[in-house]
Amino acid sequence: MSVALSVLLCLLWTQTDGVRIGDPNQNRSEAPDVAVMADLSAVIRRVEPRFLSVTIDASLASEEKFMFLLSSPKIRTLAKALTPSFLRFGGTRQDFMVFTPQRPQPDSGFTADPSCDKLELPSWLEDKLKTEWTRQQMVLMREDLQRKYRRVKFTENTVDLLHSFTNCSGMDLIFGLNALLRTADNSWNSSNARSLLQYCESRRYRMAWELGNEPNSYEKKAGIRVDGQQLGKDFTRLRQMMSQSRLYRDAGLYGPDVGQPRDHRTDILGGFLQTGDEAVDACTWHHYYVNGRDTSLEDFLDPEVLDTLALKTNEVLEKVKLVSPGKPVWLGETSSAYGGGAVGLSDTFAAGFMWLDKLGLAASLGLDVVMRQVFVGSGSYHLVDDNLDPLPDYWLSVLYKRLVGPEVLKLRAFRGAAAGKRVRLYLHCANRKSYRSGAVTLMSMNLSRKPARISVPALVSGTVEAFVLQAERPGEEGLYSRSVKLNGDVLKMVDDKTLPELTGSRLPPAEHLQLPAYSLAFFVFTDAGAAGCL
Ligand SMILES: *[C@@H]1O[C@H](CO)[C@@H](O)[C@H](O)[C@H]1NC(C)=O
Ligand SMILES: *[C@@H]1O[C@H](CO)[C@@H](O)[C@H](O)[C@H]1NC(C)=O
Ligand SMILES: *[C@@H]1O[C@H](CO)[C@@H](O)[C@H](O)[C@H]1NC(C)=O
Ligand SMILES: *[C@@H]1O[C@H](CO)[C@@H](O)[C@H](O)[C@H]1NC(C)=O
Repeated sequence: MSVALSVLLCLLWTQTDGVRIGDPNQNRSEAPDVAVMADLSAVIRRVEPRFLSVTIDASLASEEKFMFLLSSPKIRTLAKALTPSFLRFGGTRQDFMVFTPQRPQPDSGFTADPSCDKLELPSWLEDKLKTEWTRQQMVLMREDLQRKYRRVKFTENTVDLLHSFTNCSGMDLIFGLNALLRTADNSWNSSNARSLLQYCESRRYRMAWELGNEPNSYEKKAGIRVDGQQLGKDFTRLRQMMSQSRLYRDAGLYGPDVGQPRDHRTDILGGFLQTGDEAVDACTWHHYYVNGRDTSLEDFLDPEVLDTLALKTNEVLEKVKLVSPGKPVWLGETSSAYGGGAVGLSDTFAAGFMWLDKLGLAASLGLDVVMRQVFVGSGSYHLVDDNLDPLPDYWLSVLYKRLVGPEVLKLRAFRGAAAGKRVRLYLHCANRKSYRSGAVTLMSMNLSRKPARISVPALVSGTVEAFVLQAERPGEEGLYSRSVKLNGDVLKMVDDKTLPELTGSRLPPAEHLQLPAYSLAFFVFTDAGAAGCL
């Protein structure tokens, strides 16, 4: 009765001169449910080295004191392990934020920052802020439900804390400016942004910029309508302003951060590109699979739901290619479920399937950066919870950073039985900082209730390092777990400044790869000698 799902992974062994092995139709009687062929000789895509990036939602600045949480030694330790990456500060509330400087502006400019170690948040203050943040989230949620946003004033402190956080942890800051400051003729009023840029320049803050968040819903959020062409002109205006600054002349500008294609939303993107294409270095859009208030565990494990990302991505890529061929396209904000995430799902082990599949799919389809909403703060889709403890998706992200390189290798799956859809695989060169050149990393996930195995007949020689992530408890109940096991051991910080060692288990050559039920795994073939990864 128990038909083990076997996945035949036939890797092209390029040490010999490129003979393709593993024709899936070669032996019907032994045909596996999924046969996979990979071409190790050619890299089909190369993503940004900061491909996996993160966001902090602007709601953290709804009261400036919460920005001090970013000085927690623990949060900085956690951030460091995710570099290199961008940190995008933005979201709905960025379009309601007004820079209101409190201090006299420094005349000639440079005041040295306090050194990174000195800016430590005392633990009593950290505890107080954590408690207050929990309350603040209720206030924010009410605002979101009523779509009534109050104007938030922020001072130098917000920018100082953000910059110090990113600079000291090694992330690259992208700051989202308010696009809802409009003049009488409905063009962007840049005067507030100008004063912010001037302040940041006076402090020598290296950073990149965005303008506006999900302009497609401005009418709902603020009763203001801005069309794509106007928005493109606004970006051009910002670019002009940046070009007058010595520090920001060559800085990045990204946009327009539109929501995923749905009816008129793509029109904003098309119009934007017509007038703003030259102003931006990358075109950004947002993606969520489901509505956080109306979803279930089934959705989180449903291959059909995971596949919807491909549809939306292709739609956006086509649109961009038409108007601005060659323009990089980024997921500027993305997570499992919109509306702050799905309570009890977005912060659990179950969310890892959407996250790892998004990373795999986005890279292979043609996206260059994926910014996860959020690193810490709002909602339940965070990587680090309100107690500043890392969640399963955090550990998944750290492993991805360490093991996966930017080069995408071609992998074709030939599906047999329906069960085949529940095993998903992606192949990259391994990260060269961790492995010798030629090594490859196979990302895999098993959405199935029953176990199966991957046979790797072509990789008979050489070592395989396995990093298998499973929920703390077995079975479906375990999927709701907020902790995760790597090769059998629960992952936990050693202390506030130390992460545990994340070591793989070495499999002897020529073994089948076991993929337990409901598991996420990375397999590093250290001796693959892949020509594309040399
Ligand atoms: C095909 O499968 C049959 C039955 O399992 C086996 O006897 C045969 O050796 C296989 N042929 C090849 C080429 O693998
Ligand atoms: C950025 O961080 C480095 C240390 O990592 C420090 O030397 C430098 O002064 C910082 N720059 C600013 C502008 O804060
Ligand atoms: C832009 O905003 C500033 C600050 O609120 C205001 O003083 C100025 O008059 C505005 N400019 C235009 C053209 O609306
Ligand atoms: C996925 O897990 C199921 C359930 O444990 C198992 O039967 C199946 O063999 C696994 N698939 C792979 C490819 O390992």
